[in-house]
Amino acid sequence: MRDGTWNPELPIPMTIREVRQETPAVKRFVLDGSLNAYPGQFVMVWLPGIDEKPFSLMNANPVTLAIAEVGRFTRAMHLLDVGSRLWLRGPFGQGFSLEGRHLLLAAGGYGAAPLVFLARRAREDGRRITVLVAARSREHLLLVEEFRRLGCEVLTCTDDGSDGQPPRLAPLAVEELLQRAAPDALYACGPAGMLDALEALARKYHLSTQLSREAYMRCGIGVCGSCTCGDQLVCRDGPVFRIPG
Ligand SMILES: Cc1cc2nc3c(=O)[nH]c(=O)nc-3n(C[C@H](O)[C@H](O)[C@H](O)COP(=O)(O)OP(=O)(O)OC[C@H]3O[C@@H](n4cnc5c(N)ncnc54)[C@H](O)[C@@H]3O)c2cc1C
Ligand code: FES
Repeated sequence: MRDGTWNPELPIPMTIREVRQETPAVKRFVLDGSLNAYPGQFVMVWLPGIDEKPFSLMNANPVTLAIAEVGRFTRAMHLLDVGSRLWLRGPFGQGFSLEGRHLLLAAGGYGAAPLVFLARRAREDGRRITVLVAARSREHLLLVEEFRRLGCEVLTCTDDGSDGQPPRLAPLAVEELLQRAAPDALYACGPAGMLDALEALARKYHLSTQLSREAYMRCGIGVCGSCTCGDQLVCRDGPVFRIPG
């Protein structure tokens, strides 16, 4: 475990201990190290000669990442196997904070990764969790069994209805859940459009909400300005942003 003497701004090497294909696009990487981190925080992963990119922690002990293959860096990640080394800086950013006894989590695509970490901490604390896992189709639903193992009530929704439920987008499914279950707080991570719609719902229902947002990052520590969002920096002031109820 990296303790108080550990400088998160310096990259440290870790070795991949396990690789698991979770969906056609996403692989889980379990590393051989641990970090003192909160759910919602992220690390900068460096592959020398390729690039350095931000990823949310799915677990901190051991460090676990769920990475979707979308471009050059993540393609290189997906070529790595057990025994490969990579370098990490972090953890960085503001994570989620737990509030209320009944939490509603909404995960779009690889947004399920930080929410599994949050669910684990919340369940250790005896809180009730309902999770909506959303994806474009059934085979892309991520970490459904992991949420179930943690004792969460899990619902799914897909854009094309291939999960056997009526086809619908995540915000519509969340609104139905808000009307049915009246949770104490909403937590979400997913594509920007989904988060914007959930922010509107949070304001409409006066529901305390925490949204994990993305931006292009270079430094990860509030220096380069590449992750500006309005007057805030996503790496320093986020990635989790709070909307009061
Ligand atoms: C705080 C944070 C946490 C993240 N957590 C995860 C995670 O847990 N799992 C995961 O798979 N990915 C996560 N990401 C996204 C991940 O960093 C990018 O997918 C990765 O950098 C893409 O690199 P690439 O070279 O493979 O693709 P690129 O070639 O850089 O990009 C491929 C495509 O994705 C788009 N894209 C890339 N990065 C971003 C971004 N930051 N915002 C919006 N669009 C983008 C590009 O426009 C392009 O269309 C996170 C990003 C942030 C900021
Ligand atoms: S990534 Fe450099 S300021 Fe946020």
